[in-house]
Amino acid sequence: MAKKRVAVLISGRGSNMMALIEAARGEDYPAEIALVVSNRPDAAGLAWAREAGVATAIVDHRPFGENRAAFERALDAELRAQRIELICLAGFMRLLTPWFVGRWSGRMLNIHPALLPQFRGLDTHRRALEAGVKRHGATVHFVVPEMDAGPIVAQDWVAVRADDTESTLAERVLEVEHRIYPQALRALAEGRASLRSADNDAGSRGSSA
Ligand code: GRF
Repeated sequence: MAKKRVAVLISGRGSNMMALIEAARGEDYPAEIALVVSNRPDAAGLAWAREAGVATAIVDHRPFGENRAAFERALDAELRAQRIELICLAGFMRLLTPWFVGRWSGRMLNIHPALLPQFRGLDTHRRALEAGVKRHGATVHFVVPEMDAGPIVAQDWVAVRADDTESTLAERVLEVEHRIYPQALRALAEGRASLRSADNDAGSRGSSA
């Protein structure tokens, strides 16, 4: 079967992007990372992607100002020009409009550094520590118009330690992210995860790592 052509959308560091690129090098992996797109020309991940031999594009949001629709049309045109079939948002720091989300409905995943539906939005590690939760983790989900909502494809957790700081916790959660994102993309590319299916479960739930 032909590998699905995937675009990874980033705004910064790109460590999840790299995890996806590395996983997709596997011969039996059902997807190839055909394109990395950043909305920020200075995103560190762009250099990593180029080094890894992956095509990159920059669709800078700034010239479009408040005009999100025009930015998204430019982004969409780039994705279509490269015959992209699936999108992985990986630290992509732009809110997407219902138009773009609808266009890629069921074909776009996001990774969020928390156990959704807990801690939607930013600063998840700080908020988890403040809330005193015993478990924290990461979630890969389908993108729907509502932010950090949408059916869960993979989720896994780590135990929160008494001496954890935001950064130590973030570091352990990042390991979870790098493990479950490739699993979730595999499930989507193989047709084992869908926006309408109630029993998506690409990632093992529960770990004491
Ligand atoms: C990750 O924690 C991801 O879950 C969040 O933003 C961060 C991006 O990190 N959405 P990286 O760019 O993948 O290293």
